[in-house]
Amino acid sequence: MRKKQNPIRYPQKVSAQPRLRQKAPEIQPFGTVKHLLPLELVEPVRLEITEQLNRLLADTITLRDLYKKAHWQTSGPTFYQLHLLYDKHYGEQVELVDAIAERIQMLGGVSIAMAAHVAEDTDIEVPPRGREEVPVQLSRLLDAHQIIIRKTRRLARRAAQLGDDGTNDLLVSDVLRTSEMQVWFLSEHLVDVPLVEAGRIPGVMRTA
Ligand SMILES: [Fe+2]
Repeated sequence: MRKKQNPIRYPQKVSAQPRLRQKAPEIQPFGTVKHLLPLELVEPVRLEITEQLNRLLADTITLRDLYKKAHWQTSGPTFYQLHLLYDKHYGEQVELVDAIAERIQMLGGVSIAMAAHVAEDTDIEVPPRGREEVPVQLSRLLDAHQIIIRKTRRLARRAAQLGDDGTNDLLVSDVLRTSEMQVWFLSEHLVDVPLVEAGRIPGVMRTA
């Protein structure tokens, strides 16, 4: 059994001692929004949008981490190129994670943050711990993008319908446009064109 830690006794006068091991109940539960904010968006709208944004955030955090996994574990003749490309996309997803999370907070909600909670809420399939071939890495990333693109378009339309133009703008201008661009860069790597001899069907041996 884990040994119970005794509470720390702090001096009663002003002191340079940092107050360690502090605990208290949370100040706002997950899944709620602040009641009153001068945003001209009623509470039920902010509740619905923040709930959906949190689902998108869970997927975006997962995609971000999928890119780092691919960056570390990629292999083969295109190692250098893909190693750099995956990290570039990772960096762009880092920005999106922050923008979505801060949008949720801005609307009075609570953003999902920890990997364990993200794993419960994402719709993206969890990859194995080990390394996979490049085409499998690329396919996984493209599938993840497709899930995000589908949700983003749906939520952008809903946000516009509910009068949440800020969320609509973030989703269309940043999340959707970035994802579409990244899909282009990834999917071009899955086009089976000859590397050396033009007109040759890759994988088919030609007799002299
Ligand atoms: Fe790196």
